Amino acid sequence: MKALVFQGPGRIAWQDVPDPAIEDPADAIVRVDAVTICGTDLHILKGDVPEVTPGRVLGHEAVGTVVEAGGDVRTVRPGDRVLVSCITACGRCRFCRESRYGQCRGGGGWILGHIVDGTQAEYVRVPFADLSVHPLPDSIDSADAVLLADIFPTSYEVGVLNGAVSPADTVVVVGAGPIGLAAVITARLYSPGRIVAVDLAESRLNAARSLGADATVNAGEGPEQLVADLTDGLGADVVMEAVGVPETFEMCTRMVRPGGRVANIGVHGKPAVLHLEDLWIKDVTITTGLVDTSSTPMLLRMMAAGRLPSAELITHRFELGEMEEAYDVFGRAAETGAIKVALGGPQHTAVSLPDTPAA
Ligand SMILES: NC(=O)c1ccc[n+]([C@@H]2O[C@H](COP(=O)([O-])OP(=O)(O)OC[C@H]3O[C@@H](n4cnc5c(N)ncnc54)[C@H](O)[C@@H]3O)[C@@H](O)[C@H]2O)c1
Ligand SMILES: [Zn+2]
Ligand SMILES: [Zn+2]
Repeated sequence: MKALVFQGPGRIAWQDVPDPAIEDPADAIVRVDAVTICGTDLHILKGDVPEVTPGRVLGHEAVGTVVEAGGDVRTVRPGDRVLVSCITACGRCRFCRESRYGQCRGGGGWILGHIVDGTQAEYVRVPFADLSVHPLPDSIDSADAVLLADIFPTSYEVGVLNGAVSPADTVVVVGAGPIGLAAVITARLYSPGRIVAVDLAESRLNAARSLGADATVNAGEGPEQLVADLTDGLGADVVMEAVGVPETFEMCTRMVRPGGRVANIGVHGKPAVLHLEDLWIKDVTITTGLVDTSSTPMLLRMMAAGRLPSAELITHRFELGEMEEAYDVFGRAAETGAIKVALGGPQHTAVSLPDTPAA
C-alpha cells in the first residue's frame, strides 16, 4: 500500500510500504476513507517530537471501513464505517478505568503516527479496536467525522473543560488554527461573556470571527493591551494556549486574571519560562494535557444532531495520493488560507466482503 512516511526532520514521502496485518487478536485493520493532517504532524516535521523515528507512517485521525478484525474484537466487524480515534485505549489499566485514555499504560495512549504506524495511509492497523474506534451513523459525513478524531475532543477536554469555561467568562484563545477554532466553538457551549481569538494569520482570525469569536486581534498588534482594556485591567478568566511555542505560553500567563486559569493545549518542543516571580501571588491555575477522547461519544451525538459547525473548518479537499501537496498547503496556512484539509473520497459506500456473515 501507499503511506506517508516520516524520513527525519523536514522530510516526508508518500511511498510504498508493507500492508498492515493483524498482530494481536484485539487489532482491526481499517481502510482509510478520510484522513487529515494535525498541527502536531507539523511539530513532528519540525523535530519537536523525538519519539517519532524515521520510517514511521504519520497520522492519528481517520474515518474508514473495517476490513479485518482480530478474534477478540467484539464491537465492530468488517464492513463497519468507523471513526479512528487519535487515542488508543487498552481499557484495562488504571488510567483507562478512570477514562484517562491518553495516559493508558497498557499499550495505548497516543500511539498512532507516533509509536506505531498511523492513519495517513491506505490502510491502518488499530490496536485495541473495541475501545479505539467508534462506529459512525450514516448521517455523519466522513470528512466531518474526521474532525472528531482529535481536534474537537482536544479543544473541548484540554481547553474548555480544563480551563473550566463558565457563563460570563472572558475567554482568550491564543492560536486560531483548527484546535483554537474548535475551542471557540466548544467554549460557546458554556455561554462565556466574550471570546477573544489571537493569531498571526488574518485568514484564521476571519474564521474565528465567523465561528463565534467576539473579538480578534493579531498577535503582533497588542493582544495583551486589548485583553486588559476589555477586562478593566484584570485579565481574562480563561486563557487557552493553542500554538505550542514558548512566546505564546508566556503571553497566556501574562493575560490571565488573578484566580484565573491557563489551559495549555499546544505541543511544545522547547522549554518555556514560567514567571513564578509574577505568578506566585496571583492564585492562577495552569493545566496541561494530552487529549483522552473520553468526550468523543458525546461530541458524535452533537455532530449527528447538527450542533457542531464543522463543515466550515474543512477548507481544502485532496485525493489520498495527494498527501504531500496537502502537507504543503496545510503547512503554509497563512498564505493558502487552509484550516483543516480532508483527504480521501467523499463516498462512504459499504465495501462488499465475500466472507462476511449476513447480519
Ligand atoms: N494537547 C493535545 O492533546 C493536542 C492535540 C492536538 C493538537 N495539539 C496541539 O495544538 C496546537 C494547535 O494545533 P493546530 O492543529 O490548530 O495547529 P496549527 O499549526 O494549524 O495552528 C497554530 C496556529 O497558531 C498560530 N500562531 C503561530 N505563532 C503564533 C503566535 N506567535 N501568536 C499567535 N498565534 C500564532 C498560527 O498562525 C496557526 O493559526 C499544536 O501545538 C498542536 O500540536 C495538542
Ligand atoms: Zn493531533
Ligand atoms: Zn489503558
